[in-house]
Amino acid sequence: MEDDLLALLGEGAHGYFAGGAGDEITLRENEESWSRLRLAPRVLVDVAERDPSVTLLGRRRSPLLVAPMAYQKHVHPDGELASARAAARTGTGYVLSSQTTTPPADVAAALGERGGWFQLYVFGDRQVSLDLVAQARESGFEALVLTVDFPVAGWRERDKRTGFRIEHPVALNPDGPALTTEQLFAMHDPSLTWDDVAELAQVAGMPLLVKGVLRPDDAERAVDAGVAGIVVSNHGGRQLDTVLTGAQALPPVVEAVAGRADVLVDGGVRRGWDVAKALALGADAVLVGRPVLWGMATGGQDGAAAVLDQLHAELDSTLALLGVPRAEDLDTSALTGR
Ligand code: GLV
Repeated sequence: MEDDLLALLGEGAHGYFAGGAGDEITLRENEESWSRLRLAPRVLVDVAERDPSVTLLGRRRSPLLVAPMAYQKHVHPDGELASARAAARTGTGYVLSSQTTTPPADVAAALGERGGWFQLYVFGDRQVSLDLVAQARESGFEALVLTVDFPVAGWRERDKRTGFRIEHPVALNPDGPALTTEQLFAMHDPSLTWDDVAELAQVAGMPLLVKGVLRPDDAERAVDAGVAGIVVSNHGGRQLDTVLTGAQALPPVVEAVAGRADVLVDGGVRRGWDVAKALALGADAVLVGRPVLWGMATGGQDGAAAVLDQLHAELDSTLALLGVPRAEDLDTSALTGR
């Protein structure tokens, strides 16, 4: 699989998308920490009817969302249109990266009625970010997801080695020469604070979520700043190596938030039973990243849709075999047996 992806994407793009920060300890532990959790199935429960849906930002929907991922035309020529169409086809939520290689309005059209959310980076040139927010709002995106774990790029040795360059126009570099990811990421604003989050929550004109929180005290600050949701995330192991995983960070954040905002989690979710474990630990929903890209790399829109369909089917099977037919009823008893 790894060799196939390397051949399809080339060393630069493969290193960028597959890689993590430092020694990639967190990248590996993200997956391991879900797979180490043990489930405690309840037997002889009527599971003839099953419901995987959850309530998120006040709407019933799938607990699965496609995570925001940059530069998707380096994965497949259809880029973000492929992942967005796959999400729309499979009833999966979708978060578009502000480093999109496809205009937000075109992605919104591909998402159709179900819509999507827009991920935001605040760049040194804040006007670029404000223009993106305006485009997102005009295109009908439902919520803004501000990434807060990226004052600077993580220490990514694969990218340093390959010098991977982004060849497609992005908002930060609409018609300039191909830039390395390090050059693009150096344009992020490292001076962002909670005051900016509170201000953005006021002016966004749509619900604001923050993505990249790992500590309960930061989750409290996010709630105080007026966010509608918090994404517990270590950025797919791409920022600071050896930080907490989603599975480790989630329970204290859920406790601190105490229902005052939605709590989502990402990082290392590879199977439907991982999704169930995240919901059992108190997440309202789960974001999935790299598996969607790998589906796209091999089969474009159809490949990504096959991955999302399989995750939904695995979740359905997990609900039946766990004896918890409604995803919304999952709680820690699914893990402890008590
Ligand atoms: C961008 O968000 C990245 O992690 O490369």
